[in-house]
Amino acid sequence: MTKAGAMGPSRVDAGSQAPEGLGVSQIKADRKTDLIPVRAQGSEEVLNRAGALIRQGELVVFPTETVYGLGADGLNPEAVRAIFRAKGRPSDNPLILHIADFDQLPALVNQDLAPFQKLMEDLWPGPMTLVFRRSSLIPDQVTAGGDTVGIRMPSHPIGRAFLRAAQRPVAAPSANLSGRPSPTNARDVYQDMAGRLPLILDGGPCDIGIESTVVDLTVEPAQVLRPGFYTPEILAPYLPRVALDPGLGPGQVLPKSPGQKYKHYAPRAEMTLFVDKSDSMEKAVRDIVTRYLEAESPDRVGLLLFEENVRPVREAVKAAGGPEPYIISQGSRSDLSEMGHSLFTNLRRFDMAGMAVILAMGVPPLGYGESIMNRMRKAAAGRVIEE
Ligand code: TXA
Ligand code: MG
Repeated sequence: MTKAGAMGPSRVDAGSQAPEGLGVSQIKADRKTDLIPVRAQGSEEVLNRAGALIRQGELVVFPTETVYGLGADGLNPEAVRAIFRAKGRPSDNPLILHIADFDQLPALVNQDLAPFQKLMEDLWPGPMTLVFRRSSLIPDQVTAGGDTVGIRMPSHPIGRAFLRAAQRPVAAPSANLSGRPSPTNARDVYQDMAGRLPLILDGGPCDIGIESTVVDLTVEPAQVLRPGFYTPEILAPYLPRVALDPGLGPGQVLPKSPGQKYKHYAPRAEMTLFVDKSDSMEKAVRDIVTRYLEAESPDRVGLLLFEENVRPVREAVKAAGGPEPYIISQGSRSDLSEMGHSLFTNLRRFDMAGMAVILAMGVPPLGYGESIMNRMRKAAAGRVIEE
């Protein structure tokens, strides 16, 4: 998979910022946080330390192929409570339990696994969370009191090595402060979590960049509660008639997964999303240029474009006598992997650059494009212009 190749200015503010909302700025952040690069080989010492911290009830951030996770011993209620405190997360939103190996699963689940054996063997380890009926071993703090539990076996080699070192299921949400975009590299984690926990394992940038597909296996047919890299098309051979939760579409009824009701993935800037069905994207380019030229403070308007749009937009703005725009490229429109990979870190870059407004190009909501658009629609709080 390609790595982030975003263009444009890349000023980086180090250090922790205090975002608004949910009182997260009031959380104590006065601890010493180690940020340690971890390799697939030769990092046994730090992985052992991470495992020991988890068993002591501490928090450790670890990489996965989707986004970074904020981990704690999933069988220790006090440790799980500390996750909610560190993130400023509402306690009615359940956590995913992460496992390293299949033999950890039966003790956590109170449901016949046979019908899902092939699904798990083929798509785990990977970017997929499965929701099962829970066993009594799991504390209420993990499930938010519900009778189901989400379980995931990530494929990131360092994430898995960490989970093995922990020797127990690790409860972990994305390692962002509540309400901010999920972190997809250790620098973004550090920005949110410095001072709140003892250790961040740096495994480099996450390949996928958006969170796992959440699939509810307690209903028939199975339902996708949160779309991700594994689309309904990929799941269909294993789960006949699997469908997206109808509550997920734009402007639809309340989604079923508790986390989907919160305003998530949001940059601080006000974002508007432009989706052009035609390959030329001419209409959307024209609209973005018009909005940019009309802006009262164009120096605080950031543009999230595809590679194909960068020149046409720059030239149109210049021809109209406008100032040089701040542009981040999310790669070619035909490269959904790159778009997903760079999305959350690009949103953070606009914030760090002090942008008040983001005008962003989206894609038609098909296949993996629908999963990416699910995150973009949230970031745009529903401000979507389709042409
Ligand atoms: O890729 C991911 O899934 C990342 C990495 C770290 O594994 N984790 C992640 O966790 O995104 P979090 O807590 O940020 O999002 C978990 C989502 C939330 O929307 C939550 O409501 C939903 O999964 N969820 C968790 N347990 C559930 C359950 N038992 N039933 C329904 N939804 C559940
Ligand atoms: Mg999250």
